[in-house]
Amino acid sequence: MNEMQDKRIVLGITGGVAAYKAAELARLLGKAGARVDVVMTAAATRFVAPLTFQALTGRPVFTSLWDAPQENGMAHIDLSRGADAVLIAPATADFIARLTHGLADDLLASLCLARDCPLLVVPAMNRQMWEHPATVRNMAQLRADGVSVLGPASGAQACGEVGEGRMLEPAEIFDALRASFQPKLLAGKRVLLTAGPTFEALDPVRGLTNSSSGKMGFALAQACAEVGAGVTAIAGPVALPTPAGVTRVDVQSALDMREAVFATVPQTDIFIAVAAVADYRPAAPAAHKIKKGAQTLTLELVANPDILAEVAARPDAPFCVGFAAESRNLAEYAEGKRRAKQLPLVVGNLVQDGLGGDANVVTLFDAAGAHPVPPGDKLTIARAIVRHIAEMLDAKN
Ligand code: PMT
Repeated sequence: MNEMQDKRIVLGITGGVAAYKAAELARLLGKAGARVDVVMTAAATRFVAPLTFQALTGRPVFTSLWDAPQENGMAHIDLSRGADAVLIAPATADFIARLTHGLADDLLASLCLARDCPLLVVPAMNRQMWEHPATVRNMAQLRADGVSVLGPASGAQACGEVGEGRMLEPAEIFDALRASFQPKLLAGKRVLLTAGPTFEALDPVRGLTNSSSGKMGFALAQACAEVGAGVTAIAGPVALPTPAGVTRVDVQSALDMREAVFATVPQTDIFIAVAAVADYRPAAPAAHKIKKGAQTLTLELVANPDILAEVAARPDAPFCVGFAAESRNLAEYAEGKRRAKQLPLVVGNLVQDGLGGDANVVTLFDAAGAHPVPPGDKLTIARAIVRHIAEMLDAKN
């Protein structure tokens, strides 16, 4: 599903250094099939020439209320009517202040006032400007007015300082805009999920783990957040950024993961166990580094608790979704796990298809049978799983 196909996006660009990144954003939007009308403030044209955006979008670029480029001279009305979203990236402190106070002193500010479609702003400014009480007040007012605020990120700034106020990257802005067009299938639902591997310490420097990257779990966290759920992800050791709007709790071992899950499960509507939890852990991890000695070393392992089985057995169990990672006989083993743990839904995948990489091939197993999902990247697959969960919840109610 391409949520951006034929969407009419007004891309507003205001005068900050990050304006150059809006060129990549315009390109991504156009590539995804959106019709992009670029509107620049006078200051923005000092940073990037309108011609850049004209070339990237194949459409005229609007810079002034007085150019009257539309037939009736009402560019601020024509541009916002029929638009699916107005996206301001970058949004400077000055533009945010003008927006907050409803000023209409240039084309971009006027069309923001005259619009009836969603408005998304992507702040970009120096960290002290971002932290200034005036900006803090303005942002609170914009949020209260129903404006979606994307970012900002934290890090090195063009002025040489480090802190909050960097504009999100174009791909992140694109993803957030695309997500805003998805139906809010899980609005109001609280999702708890586990992701990644666990690490079972043998001694202070070594341990038992596996090659789960956490990508499938993080894709599901993102997919759930996109459709309106409040998401908490309990993550084993993985090197992945946290998807927007997701609360992340980092853990190491299966016992840590169990503790973190049980702290949140009473406030959970849907539990999705994506983590590749170690079935066993060393019986007695050494307090100090194990020294090389004998030719053989025997490890004694004890079973870890099965987090998913314990959650599913609770009297107040949320809607539980398990994963089954197999190397053969997928249908038999996945359906077997579903029945053994009495789960409404199990997502089955072969490790050779899904472990570690960016893509996967999954089949969904529920009481109605097996439902193969078309192969794809993990986010596309995660969105298909979320749609299936939403349908099952709908049918249940
Ligand atoms: O992380 P990636 O690189 O993206 O790879 C994704 C994945 C292959 C790890 C993922 O798609 C997947 O299949 N996750 C489940 C891995 C697994 O441990 O499967 P299992 O068949 O051993 O466990 C069955 C279910 O019980 C799983 O939902 C698991 O999270 C859960 N479990 C298992 C053991 C345990 N002690 N506690 C659990 O909660």
